[in-house]
Amino acid sequence: MLEHLKVSDFGTPKRESEQEVTLEIDGNQVTVPKGTSLMRAAVDAGIQVPKLCATDSLEPFGSCRLCLVEIDGRKGFPASCTTPAETGMKVRTQSPKLQELRKGVMELYISDHPLDCLTCSANGNCELQDMAGVTGLRNVRYGFDGANHLKSEKDESNPYFTYDASKCIVCNRCVRACEETQGTFALTISGRGFESRVSPGMDEPFMESECVSCGACVEACPTATLQEKSVIWLGQPEHSAITTCAYCGVGCGFKAEMKGNEVVRMVPWKDGAANDGHSCVKGRFAWGYATHQDRITTPMIRKKITDPWQAVSWEEAIGYAASEFKRIQAKYGRDSIGGIVSSRCTNEEGYLVQKLVRAAFGNNNVDTCARVCHSPTGYGLKQTLGESAGTQTFKSVEKADVILVMGANPTDGHPVFASRMKKRLREGAKLIVIDPRRIDIVKSPHIEAAHHLQLRPGTNVAVVTAFAHTIVTEGLLASDYIAERCDDKSFNEWREFVSRPENSPEATEATTGVPAADMRAAARLYATGGNAAIYYGLGVTEHSQGSTTVMGIANLAMATGNVGREGVGVNPLRGQNNVQGSCDIGSFPHELPGYRHVSDTTVRNEFEAAWGVSLQSEPGLRIPNMFDAAIDGSFMGLYCEGEDIVQSDPDTQHVAHALEAMECIVVQDLFLNETAKYAHVFLPGSSFLEKDGTFTNAERRISRVRKVMPPKAKYADWEVTMLLSNALGYPMNYKHPEEIMAEIAALTPTFSGVSYQLIDQLGSVQWPCNAAAPNGTPTMHIDHFVRGKGKFIITQYVASDEKVTRKFPLILTTGRILSQYNVGAQTRRTDNNQWHSEDRLEIHPVDAEDRGITDGDWVGIQSRAGDTVLRAVVSERMQPGVVYTTFHFPESGANVITTDNSDWATNCPEYKVTAVQVMPVTQPSEWQREFSRFDKVQAELLEQRHAAEVPGK
Ligand code: SF4
Ligand code: SF4
Ligand code: SF4
Ligand code: FES
Repeated sequence: MLEHLKVSDFGTPKRESEQEVTLEIDGNQVTVPKGTSLMRAAVDAGIQVPKLCATDSLEPFGSCRLCLVEIDGRKGFPASCTTPAETGMKVRTQSPKLQELRKGVMELYISDHPLDCLTCSANGNCELQDMAGVTGLRNVRYGFDGANHLKSEKDESNPYFTYDASKCIVCNRCVRACEETQGTFALTISGRGFESRVSPGMDEPFMESECVSCGACVEACPTATLQEKSVIWLGQPEHSAITTCAYCGVGCGFKAEMKGNEVVRMVPWKDGAANDGHSCVKGRFAWGYATHQDRITTPMIRKKITDPWQAVSWEEAIGYAASEFKRIQAKYGRDSIGGIVSSRCTNEEGYLVQKLVRAAFGNNNVDTCARVCHSPTGYGLKQTLGESAGTQTFKSVEKADVILVMGANPTDGHPVFASRMKKRLREGAKLIVIDPRRIDIVKSPHIEAAHHLQLRPGTNVAVVTAFAHTIVTEGLLASDYIAERCDDKSFNEWREFVSRPENSPEATEATTGVPAADMRAAARLYATGGNAAIYYGLGVTEHSQGSTTVMGIANLAMATGNVGREGVGVNPLRGQNNVQGSCDIGSFPHELPGYRHVSDTTVRNEFEAAWGVSLQSEPGLRIPNMFDAAIDGSFMGLYCEGEDIVQSDPDTQHVAHALEAMECIVVQDLFLNETAKYAHVFLPGSSFLEKDGTFTNAERRISRVRKVMPPKAKYADWEVTMLLSNALGYPMNYKHPEEIMAEIAALTPTFSGVSYQLIDQLGSVQWPCNAAAPNGTPTMHIDHFVRGKGKFIITQYVASDEKVTRKFPLILTTGRILSQYNVGAQTRRTDNNQWHSEDRLEIHPVDAEDRGITDGDWVGIQSRAGDTVLRAVVSERMQPGVVYTTFHFPESGANVITTDNSDWATNCPEYKVTAVQVMPVTQPSEWQREFSRFDKVQAELLEQRHAAEVPGK
């Protein structure tokens, strides 16, 4: 296990330069890239210069004057953090004069600092304390009686960290972290001279300011001024392990800092390639759900969902589930059961679930929640480029000149990547946003989109085709690139198609709602602005033409030569932590690991030989097909690991009817979620802190998840799947998830070089990782596309069946918010609720006024699928005719309203387009009343759980 309690700090950021300079520091020769600070060069020479205001994640500021050095031939004592190294310099970092100056600086700091080191929460982990020691400070000549800040009040408003102004040394690191690392600009230094103090917003408490609680300032603070409350409560950590965030597809690396089996804090890992030491409020602070009292740690069974739960031993629960599955198959046939595995699970868990379904159930009825988010990405990118994955690293955005964000809201959905992107935009890259809603990145501090194409929901295909029309008809194609790398025939057909007058921005303006001139200007910028990178999200995929838009995006990138190097590419921003991985390892009903179709006899033969079973050659049921088959009476048993299909899938009432029709539902989860309320067997799950494994993020980066505490319910999730498989008569005997990864690698060509050893060695690895790319593949399609020649595909716009009518005149679109995550099962059980404690409906002032709705009113939202009630937020972020909500709270019933429309190729639901009516109301909807009743009944049935001593637990 990696131990990283102390990370060395180089003081100033790394500089990249082809030129090098050689100098002498304290008699040691050192060579560094041009632009490197003396402070950093000294660290390279093995010398730590005292410092307080410098840290290597931030540009140097030169305020504390502790890092002074002497340079031969130069007057005075320059600050080593702000002085670049030059060839031939002779530098001294230690001398009696420097010692005296540094002591003087420290004396001033300490004279205005509480002398409570022994009881301070940062004791032993405080840079001020360290520097007092390093400089040899023994007394303070000025005494402690002068003017000071020792009685300053603490700001405790943020649930996760405190601001204790009495300890602030005004080093400005927090302010710079908020600006440079996070890009929020929430902090300033208010007042002058002695009065200077750090202040959120206009001297507001943190919680009332623009602060998004990312923790970058806490991380940067060298004292206990900004300190995690968990450290104040629990004390300094004793040991740590590197692991990966269990929330979004950015896949930030974290150092879980522990005391025994208790997490003291999660510190973003400086060497984490996805996040470079940054984080957001979820990964950094919202881990308390893992030990929440709602966790169910005892297996439970019941015959009917109207019966009380019975707590039983693992043996009994697994035995009951296995016997039920066997009974159902005997009665209804081999294909009458299946499995769903969440993309929150590890790769190893996902692999075992699909193996269980294919080898032990004997069918291909396995699916994953990628079905409802990025399945069109898998399909669309495979068709055009040849591989079902994003093309770049996140870091690649640092080389982009034009950034096109389509149907994604990175500051809320992928916050750490958004910070990286915002940094590049502040450096001058141009931004194009294609989104029905005015998302934050359209205009934020020091950033303004060059174009915001505020299209009508459901018209993405018309927009990408009109973009292509502009590029082709205005002669902006990358002709040499296309001639060399793309398939001629498909290109010529595509060019003819997009050039047609009916695909022009002018002809489609009435459909898309985007003024033709804006569309043309944005397309020109994308095609001619230098390196152009596309980032897209669920606003692209969750449509009836989701796959078509993905292919349209790939067409644009190929047509302009923007695939195959850094700074460009086609980049799906994946929703959940392991969406990429769960698709990679065969969780879809038609594909074995590595995206190989089940009908491919050669591939099937390999798996049959390795697994010792014969496999079905026909694809199994997708999630929506499982529901339909359940209602038809042919699908009667489900094993559902980590996924809450009742809350997350569209048309909730249809899902609930399907589950009610089944005879045995086995749910494996941390909590009694909405799906578990329809279950017959509950198998306790394990959180990411309780198991080993790997997650694969949106960059194809495979990172380790490391167990830092024992599973609360005895078994990790992968062990539970093994128990079930063994009980069904198909033996699985892995001793550790490492063996599962070894099996994946042995059977999957793109993973053949992947091993835990390699990940430990490199920190993480991006697939393909094999003999051709032993250390992985950061950028894909470099010399040629994975499929050979890039294939252009015709993108004919077909309007969604979901149309506005007099009865349903508005379009509802859905999304997420920073503080909550997906169905909210994790974040709702943390203090993140303080930012967002309910789902609300955003509505444009014109639509609100037409209906007599004011901010905060309860409004009923009705679609042809169902109706629900939410509180309104009147907001100009929306365009007239479009309303928006999130789906983090089960009682909101956002998915009661969404319909069963789905992507033509993959069945990904059309969450983003639902025709609705919105009206003021005074009471909950009928569905909500029924939800409350059912919820109460299920809570009582849980309460009545048989509490007899449980053998074997
Ligand atoms: S927590 Fe993040 S957003 Fe808030 S003040 Fe600190 S750096 Fe800025
Ligand atoms: S709060 Fe911390 S980082 Fe910010 S100025 Fe004060 S001591 Fe420095
Ligand atoms: S950006 Fe995503 S992966 Fe990173 S800390 Fe936040 S939720 Fe976790
Ligand atoms: S560390 Fe260089 S001036 Fe503060």
